[in-house]
Amino acid sequence: MQNSPDSVPVLTVDGPSGSGKGTIVQRVAQKLGWHMLDSGALYRLVAFGALKNGLSLQDEAAIADYAVHLDVEFRLQDMPAGAPNPQELQIMLEGKPVGPELRTEETGNAASIVAAMPEVREALLQRQRDFRQPPGLVADGRDMGTTVFPDAQVKVFLTASAEERARRRYKQLIDKGISANLAALLRDINERDERDSQRSVSPLKPAADAVIIDTSDLSIDQVVEQVLAICKDRF
Ligand code: C5P
Repeated sequence: MQNSPDSVPVLTVDGPSGSGKGTIVQRVAQKLGWHMLDSGALYRLVAFGALKNGLSLQDEAAIADYAVHLDVEFRLQDMPAGAPNPQELQIMLEGKPVGPELRTEETGNAASIVAAMPEVREALLQRQRDFRQPPGLVADGRDMGTTVFPDAQVKVFLTASAEERARRRYKQLIDKGISANLAALLRDINERDERDSQRSVSPLKPAADAVIIDTSDLSIDQVVEQVLAICKDRF
């Protein structure tokens, strides 16, 4: 018999796109030495894989069926000496590595369409819970504290103004040498927020017992410190 999954500690970090969750969750998980769940990647994989297989995002039944059978593997790969991280996550979809195409705005928008489908959310629920493994899990998403891990010991909800989030995304893209348009990014963020917070199942909202941190005027390091301070009191 394995450890009861419910006894494994979980820190949930929810919030809208661009609130800085991804980087913060990675740093906090590293500091704690815990596993990490990037739940957005699962919704992105469903949307990306479905489109690749010629499915229409309007065809809810076909997308849900695809989500049930989603063939994905998260592999930690050792990186060569001198690389910024000793290990990096490689996502395998249907046996093939997925690259930066998973992180584009287009895939993010498609993910937010499939994420509004109740059957897709249901299909991904157990897969997400399976990430709860010793010594602990840091879970990044929109509904980690409300739906997926309602019994999590610590829940954090990160926010930032839409303008600040668009600016961060703009800078990220420009730094990567990708051209970007700030007004278009702001429009996309507002559309995605609207869809994520208005949907009927698991809308984006803080759990009643979440600690809310507005990151608009904080650096990544400051947010990481605050989150770790909250954990220190509770784990
Ligand atoms: O976090 P990320 O930008 O990768 O998420 C992509 C989309 O997946 C979000 O806009 C949201 O619609 C959806 N999502 C969700 N629930 C989660 C994680 C992501 O609905 N737990």
